[in-house]
Amino acid sequence: MTVPFFAQPIALSDSFTLPSRAILSPLEGIMNREAFFKAAVSMGLIDSWMPPFIAVPKGAAPSTGALRRRFGLFLESNIPLSIQLLGNDPDTLAETGAALFRIGVRSVNLNCACPSRTVLSGGSGGALLKNPGRIRDILCAIKEKTPGLCLSVKTRSGFRSPEEIPSLMEAVREGGADWVLHHFRTVPETYETVPFEEAIRRLRLVVRKAAPLPVFANGDIRTAEDAEIMVKETSCAGIAVGRGIMRDPFLLRKLRGAACPPDMCPAFLKALSGGEIAGKKKRRFHLECVKMAFGESSPEFREALQNSP
Ligand SMILES: Cc1cc2nc3c(=O)[nH]c(=O)nc-3n(C[C@H](O)[C@H](O)[C@H](O)COP(=O)(O)O)c2cc1C
Repeated sequence: MTVPFFAQPIALSDSFTLPSRAILSPLEGIMNREAFFKAAVSMGLIDSWMPPFIAVPKGAAPSTGALRRRFGLFLESNIPLSIQLLGNDPDTLAETGAALFRIGVRSVNLNCACPSRTVLSGGSGGALLKNPGRIRDILCAIKEKTPGLCLSVKTRSGFRSPEEIPSLMEAVREGGADWVLHHFRTVPETYETVPFEEAIRRLRLVVRKAAPLPVFANGDIRTAEDAEIMVKETSCAGIAVGRGIMRDPFLLRKLRGAACPPDMCPAFLKALSGGEIAGKKKRRFHLECVKMAFGESSPEFREALQNSP
């Protein structure tokens, strides 16, 4: 029997293998809640995990104790774990990579994609795309200090324009990255609509220019069919789903060919807002999740608003 494409493991470095090619793309504010991780693991939604970024300001590498407190739960789960770093100082990021390695983390991702104004004004996230040389220096510094770490980058299709893709991918390769997670929009496009043909054109270019590095394609994958089309059209090595998981929690499971109980979305959304939060905050969080899952003008969101005391 042939194993479905998405269920095939992929070795991304000597020490780091993803059990499948359908992964989550981090969502800050949603996926950094332990309730999300616990629900996702207990419902068998994920088989690897990249939580939202940790900010690493220059000269302020976190201690191993702080990292252990923050990521202990994930490490104990034994699910392949990648930690995403947000910063721009090569030495501090390399020190953080080494500390993560000491506590057992084997995979690190550099965020070169965040379009938030605050992050951009600090010169991190998407702002790094303006300076491919800096991306290369950061990657080289991390790799040199801790060669055993599997190293990846989260990129967008340029700070201003997709024409930047070739030089960006060159820097990523020269920096020694092992793989790329790519969201097809540029930084100023934030989450705007990009025509399908254009999104595919950009992703194809990324796949070509990043070669031989594997590329996981990301952006607007909401159904199994979207994922299949993405692979067929771009020859990417895998896909990553962000907001789509809120609408269909079993999307990654489906892609792996695993059995899926009937629609679990309401139970999943409820599990997400359980645990650490209470009262008003809990209601607000639940509304945020429903909005992300179904959209602001959806009947589901209107109903959630009406039922919210
Ligand atoms: C609320 C929110 C938080 C996000 N946080 C992160 C993050 O911490 N790290 C990251 O690389 N991308 C982050 N992203 C981007 C997503 O991972 C993903 O690249 C983007 O939403 C496009 O994919 P999608 O259409 O599947 O959601 C965030 C997006 C949203 C909407």
